[in-house]
Amino acid sequence: MTAGRVALITGGSNGIGAAVARRLAEDGWRLVLADVDAERGTALAAELEGAFVRCDVREPADSAAAVAAAVDGFGGLDLAFLNAGVASGCGLDADFDPEKYRRAMGINLDGVVYGVRAALPALRARGGGDIIATASMAGLTATPFDPIYGANKAAVVGLVRALGPAHAGEGIRVNALCPSFADTDILVPLKAHLEETNFPILQVGDVVAAFLGILDGDDTGEAWFVVPGRESGPFKFRGVPGPR
Ligand SMILES: NC(=O)c1ccc[n+]([C@@H]2O[C@H](COP(=O)([O-])OP(=O)(O)OC[C@H]3O[C@@H](n4cnc5c(N)ncnc54)[C@H](O)[C@@H]3O)[C@@H](O)[C@H]2O)c1
Repeated sequence: MTAGRVALITGGSNGIGAAVARRLAEDGWRLVLADVDAERGTALAAELEGAFVRCDVREPADSAAAVAAAVDGFGGLDLAFLNAGVASGCGLDADFDPEKYRRAMGINLDGVVYGVRAALPALRARGGGDIIATASMAGLTATPFDPIYGANKAAVVGLVRALGPAHAGEGIRVNALCPSFADTDILVPLKAHLEETNFPILQVGDVVAAFLGILDGDDTGEAWFVVPGRESGPFKFRGVPGPR
């Protein structure tokens, strides 16, 4: 039973966030789209009879305002999909750029932290709910093409693994969605190379299906891989050695 439930989607104006928004709207969810892209976000929110909030996820007050829009406009919050993200656009060698570094860490990691902080009280007030953060396969495997992206996505995976058990007792599930390369705007700079090397690219619908798998499940604190040709599921980390 999802009709009337309320979701906040950061990075909801385009790509994976917009596709998830469309799918949730079909199931009767009320939606708040929070993004820096006001043009696309406003149009999509109108189409889905939701709300658009201009939100730079690097700013804690913007995430708080986006949650407030869900609570004030639709009566509460049941799901926070913390999905806004960017490639870093720089490496750690001669190509290092401190502004690009801070921007990528700010959006991909701080944005999730501030989104969680803003969402928790509203989810608690509802008696529980879901937080799903978009990390990436870059958070589970080595990404020499963008080490800064690999670092902030691994941090999101670590955050979610910690938050899952921390909030399980109050019915708030926290999971990470970890897609491989998917056909959205973020992939544009890499797409020609992937095609030349015949590396399979996910369709956005595959990512939406994995998202729904997380939402429909009971797990918490898990990082779900989304890889072409495989059924998505929680990545099983090898247990770390404990003290002897
Ligand atoms: N497409 C892929 O290959 C892929 C793979 C793994 C993970 N991801 C992750 O999926 C998420 C969604 O990306 P996408 O593939 O849909 O790309 P996208 O570029 O289509 O969407 C990203 C969205 O984030 C928004 N955004 C950027 N900066 C923002 C900010 N400061 N505050 C709020 N919103 C901001 C953009 O306006 C855009 O709407 C990202 O976290 C990305 O890292 C993508």
